[in-house]
Amino acid sequence: MFENIEWSGNQVHVNGILFDLETHLQGEPGSAEFRLFRTRGIIGDYADFFFRNPDAVPQRMMEIGIFQGGSMVFWNEVLHPDRFTGVDLFHPPDVSALERYLATNGLCERVHARWEVNQGTPSNYERSSDWTTSRHSTS
Ligand SMILES: C[S@@+](CC[C@H](N)C(=O)[O-])C[C@H]1O[C@@H](n2cnc3c(N)ncnc32)[C@H](O)[C@@H]1O
Repeated sequence: MFENIEWSGNQVHVNGILFDLETHLQGEPGSAEFRLFRTRGIIGDYADFFFRNPDAVPQRMMEIGIFQGGSMVFWNEVLHPDRFTGVDLFHPPDVSALERYLATNGLCERVHARWEVNQGTPSNYERSSDWTTSRHSTS
């Protein structure tokens, strides 16, 4: 799980994929392919949780608030869920890094990102949840 993480200043490598750790959406992007809006401390807390709970092996995941999808790449590399859907209220202008990652790794059937989905709108939210449970569903 978290054993393949390597730190380098404000960046983290996971299975060789580089993420900039950032705090503000409006900040200038760094040089990494993906942006992760988490602190090193929070990632340490996740690692601690999964270390203490070895039976916690998520198979179907949903992430609310994915921005450009960097955190989806992070979770996919760390936890390898069978199905993973991420949603966000807004569609960022550039999601090419996520699209490239999904296509290159053959993940388009298993990992879905949906934008313009509001977690506070029940119809949108329920429809998004369905994507994580229906193995053969597509967009
Ligand atoms: C700080 S970013 C976090 C991105 C990612 N989870 C990460 O850790 O790198 C928070 C995201 O939540 C999204 N968001 C805020 N309110 C939302 C809502 N009601 N429904 C869906 N997404 C929402 C924002 O558009 C933004 O992209």
